[in-house]
Amino acid sequence: AEANIGVVGLAAMGASLSRNLARHGNTVAVFNRHYSRTETLMNEHGSEGRFVPAHTLQEFVASLTRPRTAIIMVKAGDPTDQMINDLADLMEAGDIIVDAGNSYFKDTIRREKAIRARGLHFVGCGVSGGEEGALLGPSMMPGGTDESWETLGPILESIAARAEGEPCVTHIGTDGAGHFVKMVHNGIEYADMQVIAESYDLMRRGLGLEPGRIADVFEEWNEGDLNSYLVQITAQVLHHVDARTGRPFIDIVKDQAGMKGTGTWTVQTALDLAVPVTGIGEAVFSRGLSASADLREEAAREGLAGPVQEGGLGDLASDPDRCKAFIEDIRKALYASKIVAYAQGFNEMEEGAREYGWNLDLGAIARIWRGGCIIRAKFLNRISDAYASGGEFGSLLFDPFFKQAIEEAQDSWRRVVTAATGAGIPIPVFASSLSYYDGLRSRRLPAALIQGQRDLFGAHTYGRVDESGAFHTLWAGDGSEIRQGD
Ligand code: 6PG
Repeated sequence: AEANIGVVGLAAMGASLSRNLARHGNTVAVFNRHYSRTETLMNEHGSEGRFVPAHTLQEFVASLTRPRTAIIMVKAGDPTDQMINDLADLMEAGDIIVDAGNSYFKDTIRREKAIRARGLHFVGCGVSGGEEGALLGPSMMPGGTDESWETLGPILESIAARAEGEPCVTHIGTDGAGHFVKMVHNGIEYADMQVIAESYDLMRRGLGLEPGRIADVFEEWNEGDLNSYLVQITAQVLHHVDARTGRPFIDIVKDQAGMKGTGTWTVQTALDLAVPVTGIGEAVFSRGLSASADLREEAAREGLAGPVQEGGLGDLASDPDRCKAFIEDIRKALYASKIVAYAQGFNEMEEGAREYGWNLDLGAIARIWRGGCIIRAKFLNRISDAYASGGEFGSLLFDPFFKQAIEEAQDSWRRVVTAATGAGIPIPVFASSLSYYDGLRSRRLPAALIQGQRDLFGAHTYGRVDESGAFHTLWAGDGSEIRQGD
């Protein structure tokens, strides 16, 4: 036995992670079901560090020092379950199995329980940053026991991205906590991508700007409050020209967004927890609508009516000064919507922690998202500051920094939503985030009417503003009120 860590599954992510581990002084056992991948890795990168290639899983396990620690990077679902069991059969008490794929946190809770019953540790670990992150430094969100973190922590710290010198990894909590937090990360990623896409649409369709010019705008934005990986790569995508046709790349790509399911889980879980994550929800639904190509085709054939000034922002677009001012409005609307989406995601983590019994340190989570992951952004420093200042608040929106940021952005935000609606340009995340914000601010919501309706058709009862208890009105009778339990 000579390897202090092992990686099973050497597709893109697994191979990159193995190389990252080896480059940081770890001795890495590597195994893949088909040896050809292992061979390729050895041939192309074997010299980057110390690898111990294994032909069989037995050989792989035997090459690990104790406690044996193996990271699984295979397809989520059945292949992962299968590999966990195969490894557990070969391992001994105290050994650690790490699932670094995008597993559903409830699967992780189930697997952790089963593996713990066998005396082993099971760690569900969220890994963000794509292939490049896996190689050069991802952000990692491990769950599992404190004991497993003692062994695993230093290894993960050795390969994590750094943000202001700190490794972007922390022990998130027990059992499925790591995968839960990674799931919410992905949900926020969806919302962030969607508001960026809506901003693009407003500049393209609304203002009639060319992709290259819009790329310049995003590049400029990346210098300010919106500085983030997603804004940066947006500029890169928009600058890109299709080699085959010479057209902007963005125009030759099918407008149907894919998704592997993590965003959907974030919304499903939020529904279970009764936490409104409207930004994430709209982002998932928007991908769904984009992918419903046949339906959209039919709508076009049907000629569904739109506003008179379809698509364009008219005189606004033709006046350079107003056009410039509107771009600044979009920037602020993007910032405000993004703040709301993050606030909602953090609410979901808070509620999830309560429901599943985790002690989530939200400030620490914001800190490990500052580097390596897809949603890495300057902005996360502000979120970590908000939590670090001991802020006990129900929403990030109450933190003084964010409160003021939205105050400064809100006029622009409202103008953008109004203009887009007038022009018939869909802005689901801009609009729903603003509605959430206004709903949150409302001292009185029309939910009172819903309570009345529910009581009328189903005797579901309602509360009164002036007396505690549950009440029911005899709607079909004399209209008098009875107190429930009387
Ligand atoms: C990350 C990404 C990563 C992956 C998602 C994309 O944090 O590195 O989120 O996990 O790119 O699976 O998800 P969709 O395919 O659902 O967009």
